[in-house]
Amino acid sequence: MRFSVMTLFPEQINAFLSESIIGRAREKGIISVDFYNIRDYSGNEYGKIDDSLYGGGTGMLMECEPVYRCYQDASKESKPYVIYVSPKGNVLDQKKVKELSKKDHVAILCGHYEGIDSRVLDEIVDEEISIGDYVLTGGEIAAVTIIDSVSRMIDGVLPNEDAYTNESHMNGTLEAPQFTKPRVWHDREVPEVLLNGNQAEIDDYNRTMSLIETMEKRPDMFDKLELSEEDWKKVLARKRQN
Ligand code: ADE
Repeated sequence: MRFSVMTLFPEQINAFLSESIIGRAREKGIISVDFYNIRDYSGNEYGKIDDSLYGGGTGMLMECEPVYRCYQDASKESKPYVIYVSPKGNVLDQKKVKELSKKDHVAILCGHYEGIDSRVLDEIVDEEISIGDYVLTGGEIAAVTIIDSVSRMIDGVLPNEDAYTNESHMNGTLEAPQFTKPRVWHDREVPEVLLNGNQAEIDDYNRTMSLIETMEKRPDMFDKLELSEEDWKKVLARKRQN
């Protein structure tokens, strides 16, 4: 999968995506990330790409033409699915992440200052995405978030598929609590059932704990689940024990 990032700060994003799992996936060629510095498309010797707002208002806005030329360059080999990262977009969730992981080429446009002239957004953007209901100083952290979360859904990026099929948010639930050695730490014991080697019992326990975790930490997600009578019984029985 190919990601193209249109930004004023390519080094910021590249630094983050050069290490660990994503860095290795890039080295192996499972994903590629290329950068287009919007300033390189300014068309003037000063690299100026912004101007004051029509109608007044504070700050500067990125102009249409440099952004458009940058987009044309990023689209030379293949037409990308273009995402503009902004606090006005659809809020990113795991469903959207999975959907994006099926695309061949995604281009992410990062705004800075007060944003970008709306006309070029109307012309080139397929989808506006926010990473949450708060405002960042620029879209770079949002771009990194999208590339990281989408890349780990692609075959070969994580060691095996299990690494993401059982984790939080994959089925609308949160993952059950997990434990490693030692068996007892500060008087806190690893649940007995995880030590007995009976895989069916362990799976059943983890499923129930995952439902309880979701109920306690994300009641909004829990409300959307359709639990069977059997699940309810297990959840209530386990709650009584804890
Ligand atoms: N740019 C500024 N704030 C943002 C947000 N919350 N999500 C995506 N891009 C942004």
